[in-house]
Amino acid sequence: MKVAVLGAAGGIGQPLSLLLKLNPLVSHLSLFDIVHTPGVAADLSHMCTPAHVTGHMGTDQLEACLSGSNIVVIPAGVPRKPGMTRDDLFNTNASIVRDLVDACAKFCPESMICIISNPVNSTVPIASEVMKQRGVYDHRRVFGVTTLDVVRANTFVAEAKDRDVAHVNVPVIGGHSGETIVPLLSQATPRITFPREERTKMIERIQNAGTEVVEAKAGAGSATLSMAYAGAKFTGSLLDALNGREDVVECTFVQSDETECTYFATPILLGKRGIEQNLGIGRLADFEVSLLEKAIPELQKNITKGEEWIKSNP
Ligand code: NAI
Repeated sequence: MKVAVLGAAGGIGQPLSLLLKLNPLVSHLSLFDIVHTPGVAADLSHMCTPAHVTGHMGTDQLEACLSGSNIVVIPAGVPRKPGMTRDDLFNTNASIVRDLVDACAKFCPESMICIISNPVNSTVPIASEVMKQRGVYDHRRVFGVTTLDVVRANTFVAEAKDRDVAHVNVPVIGGHSGETIVPLLSQATPRITFPREERTKMIERIQNAGTEVVEAKAGAGSATLSMAYAGAKFTGSLLDALNGREDVVECTFVQSDETECTYFATPILLGKRGIEQNLGIGRLADFEVSLLEKAIPELQKNITKGEEWIKSNP
């Protein structure tokens, strides 16, 4: 399958492309950025794994990059610096995502579109609206990549409880910023319980984990390596599902009827056409109901912001 990475020369784009080059289901890895892609592509192309690598730079090369792509992953755009929220990135990243998704609508309208660029809560609605404007929207094929929240939740819970992280799974629903990130510790497998205070700390750590990295990097950007891992994990799951595997589930931010928010992350069964089935929120513990009540108004605001922006900036 052909996988395109847009923003491939960036902090996430480079290690993400490296990890995708290792995936045996990728036959063509097509890299796009506004800078440095020839070098990144030349470098990766020397790896002795099957994927053929091509590098494309500048908007006149988007068609060559995208034509025939099965999956497009988009980590293009600016990352946070200390003191910034994801929403502070909106003004720059909204138009980057709009223009790149517009190119997808033209050159690979049937591809799966995976949005990493923040604020995901707003860029996914923007991406969907662009596809609608072009008449090629299918809600089963547009995903906001929230895998890093699950990756973090699994890691922190496994560490706290001294479990093998390979066997820990914590669903994370809602959106991808601060209080819109709702980890469902009550649905963790294997079943794990926390005293109340420890539980509150754990939830806050998962919600603020991105900021933990932004502060540790002290001005040099946000999570890139763990995000590349999470992006490759999500893309790998999508590749498995497109290839016919029938039990692939990932939490991802998609168009949704599960709450009053028109987009919402829940566990999703992936299939050959993208979203096969929304597995829903499941039963929540009382403390999770109040987390959800806090998340929904903020998430609705972020979604509306994206939808309103694209109306006035088509
Ligand atoms: P970066 O600045 O290192 O890389 C971004 C890349 O995008 C650069 O190579 C830049 O040249 C490229 N770019 C800019 N405009 C472009 C355009 N019009 N077309 C193609 N490429 C373009 O940033 P980094 O650290 O890789 O982060 C990228 C995005 O991912 C940010 O918006 C960040 O907030 C987001 N992010 C999302 C996460 C998630 O969980 N969904 C986690 C971490 C970061």
